[in-house]
Amino acid sequence: MKTHIVVGGTKGIGKSTLESLPAEDQRISISRNIPDHPIPGVQYLQADVQTDDLPEIVEVDSITYCPGSINLRPFKALKRDQFLEDLEINYLGAIKTIQTYLRSLKVRENASIVLFSTVAVGQGMPFHSSIAGAKGAVEGLVRSLSAELAPDIRVNAIAPTVTDTNLASRLLRDEKARENIASRQPLKRIVDPSEIGAMVAFLHSNNARSITGQILGIDAGMSVVRN
Ligand SMILES: NC(=O)c1ccc[n+]([C@@H]2O[C@H](COP(=O)([O-])OP(=O)(O)OC[C@H]3O[C@@H](n4cnc5c(N)ncnc54)[C@H](OP(=O)(O)O)[C@@H]3O)[C@@H](O)[C@H]2O)c1
Repeated sequence: MKTHIVVGGTKGIGKSTLESLPAEDQRISISRNIPDHPIPGVQYLQADVQTDDLPEIVEVDSITYCPGSINLRPFKALKRDQFLEDLEINYLGAIKTIQTYLRSLKVRENASIVLFSTVAVGQGMPFHSSIAGAKGAVEGLVRSLSAELAPDIRVNAIAPTVTDTNLASRLLRDEKARENIASRQPLKRIVDPSEIGAMVAFLHSNNARSITGQILGIDAGMSVVRN
């Protein structure tokens, strides 16, 4: 039986990841809140990754780090503190999580880490300077750690386009906004978090034993298709 830690398993992509991981495995969510409707079989632990020590867990097969941000503003309106906030939650939180559980991961076979980037790192998009910088740091971390931790631990990231979660609720605020965003995606759709959760579960599975150092776009074609 494997043990999977999902930091941020109460909502969005983290919740979908817990739903996709094998029910016979031990699935642990760490987040600031406990959900009103927990997934049966999932253990929920409470911690703020930015301010608290993370709970001790001795044997860990996988880590998925989900906390993130979407602060879209013109570059000239962004203050240093806003860049730091994006780095804290997207990048330094992931580093803290990996450092906390690295020893527990190293003793397991086919251990795996999945982090999150965004399509806006590989594609220049206006108003994304802060988040693209923070997620660019995540992509650098993924490539560097995948080299440093091989062959013991695989490290990958998923780079989504707009995905239907709480985090994107301001962008997807009404039907008109949803249609507008969908129309800009080559596949003319908004990604559902279940699609990403299924990919995370695959990346943590033994079928992904040969995949490391990859940034996988789940982006309705945004990163490569022009139409
Ligand atoms: N949704 C999109 O359109 C989109 C697009 C590109 C990239 N991404 C990336 O994909 C990842 C997942 O996004 P999402 O949309 O699923 O986000 P979400 O809906 O905001 O969910 C984030 C999860 O992280 C937890 N969390 C937030 N801050 C935390 C903290 N300080 N300590 C512990 N847990 C914390 C939240 O639970 P609590 O509030 O209970 O703590 C929640 O379970 C993020 O890295 C995001 O940047 C998302």
